[in-house]
Amino acid sequence: MEKTFLMVKPDGVQRSLVGEIVKRFEQKGFQLIGSKLTVISREQAELHYAEHKGKDFFERLVTFITSGPVFAMVWQGEQVISLSRTMIGKTNTLEAAPGTIRGDFAVHTHLNLIHGSDSPESAEREISNFFKSDELFEYNKVI
Ligand code: CMP
Repeated sequence: MEKTFLMVKPDGVQRSLVGEIVKRFEQKGFQLIGSKLTVISREQAELHYAEHKGKDFFERLVTFITSGPVFAMVWQGEQVISLSRTMIGKTNTLEAAPGTIRGDFAVHTHLNLIHGSDSPESAEREISNFFKSDELFEYNKVI
């Protein structure tokens, strides 16, 4: 089953949007198999956003993502990587469609509430940056 890494950023935690965000993925039918509220280190943040190193927004991004607790999650389901990104909405929040998380709740590209892996390779790397294997739980869904 496909897995992805999703992370409610410090702005989403501070705005008490964790429940709203989790609810959307649960209602869609995806399965939460790991989660933690954590403050990430600079080293962990730089690894997570390695592909953006050198870009003009990198420093601000790392400073922001380490500024307070994030809610890190692993979800699984059919096509969860692409479908969860559709549910999150465009990175540029001004272009994010209504009905998406960013479209409904965010107006700033830096304060865009949630990160989602963009490929199976990113998902694997990002999951292992945040979770040990014994922090992920396989269980049967009744429905
Ligand atoms: P995220 O999906 O976490 O991936 C990289 C983050 O960098 C992105 O969300 C935004 O929060 C932030 N960011 C800021 N400026 C830009 C930009 N011009 N292009 C892409 N990402 C940006």
